[in-house]
Amino acid sequence: MRPYPRPITSKLPNVGTTIFTIMSKLAADHNAINLSQGFPDFDCTPELRALFCKYINSGLNQYPPSAGIMGLREAIAEKMQSLYGATYDPEHEVTVTPGATYAIFTAVSAFVRPGDEVILFEPAYDSYGPAVEVNGGKPVYVQMQYPDYSIDWEAVRNAITPRTRMMILNTPNNPTASVFSAEDLRVLEGLLRDTGIIVASDEVYEHLVFDGHQHQSVARFPGLAERSFVVSSFGKTYAVTGWKMGYAIAPKNLMLEFRKVHQFNAFVSNSPVQYAFADYMKNKDAYLSLAAFYQKKRDFFLDGLKGSRFKPLPSRGTFFQNLDYSAISDEADTDLAIRLTKEHGIASIPVSVFYRKPPVHKVLRFCFAKSEETLARGAAILSKI
Ligand SMILES: Cc1ncc(COP(=O)(O)O)c(C=O)c1O
Repeated sequence: MRPYPRPITSKLPNVGTTIFTIMSKLAADHNAINLSQGFPDFDCTPELRALFCKYINSGLNQYPPSAGIMGLREAIAEKMQSLYGATYDPEHEVTVTPGATYAIFTAVSAFVRPGDEVILFEPAYDSYGPAVEVNGGKPVYVQMQYPDYSIDWEAVRNAITPRTRMMILNTPNNPTASVFSAEDLRVLEGLLRDTGIIVASDEVYEHLVFDGHQHQSVARFPGLAERSFVVSSFGKTYAVTGWKMGYAIAPKNLMLEFRKVHQFNAFVSNSPVQYAFADYMKNKDAYLSLAAFYQKKRDFFLDGLKGSRFKPLPSRGTFFQNLDYSAISDEADTDLAIRLTKEHGIASIPVSVFYRKPPVHKVLRFCFAKSEETLARGAAILSKI
């Protein structure tokens, strides 16, 4: 095909192929253990697969309601009530979406106008900045503080201007594996009290919080819940990232605007998958057991790294373990990640890709949502470096 014959002014001039695509391809090309991209290397449960097949075979294959089937919306609202004590009306306040990333993009599209500022925390999950920019908004970054990636709330206060339209939060956090405390959210609640700032709270790792701590959803804090979209992902929770299904929850007047955009974009989410999740969510243990399941994997991986020159940073949530390599190499993290893949057969994600400018600290992110056999092999390789 001949190229388009006119100059193109990109709406996203700084965006290229994502590092996840690059590292996964490199891992495949070099037959490396892939601890880079955040998805499980084990399958979902046979029960969940059987439910999906059941609803395909029972003919539920046409457009479902735009906001999602009521049974699933009810199950989501019930979970929000039982876990976070928050009451949401499934009719008007819960919308099923094709993934969490889509839900965040939709919330941004529904509210951010050209010139509006959106506060993001850096390092930031890679979709947030482009979602803001493609809608004409301006990302305003507040740094999380290395090495515990805590938030300087005074810096957040200083970042707020009359143009601030939105703030995107992510707890538990990718890529830092840090979590917000209740105190963090109380401070934020106070900071936003007299503002019109809307919050998009990316809580896709809500069930993956370790060491006995509780997930602090914005839904627990009335002054935040009234201005927030809470976003989560069935893909992450149930080890079916390829099914691409998530949801957004927000007060009715915010959700009304969200649905206006959703209606003219995807319009609906996959029908049989929704019926499957509506049934599957009745088994609360399937999500309540996840923290222990993934904590065991984290600890198994860390055990394998004892004596290694990589220094583990705290992993309080998500399925990521960050390792500081400053005792091993002065290389930039991207160079090291590529070299480890090619020369040692292990792929990771350089944390600098979640920053606009590479930071000075030297950290690689490893995903431990993998079988013990994979984790053991990965840890053995890393221990020899
Ligand atoms: C913080 C965060 N948000 C959203 C997503 C994507 O969720 P989904 O696949 O449901 O769009 C990811 C996946 O890595 C993530 O880490």
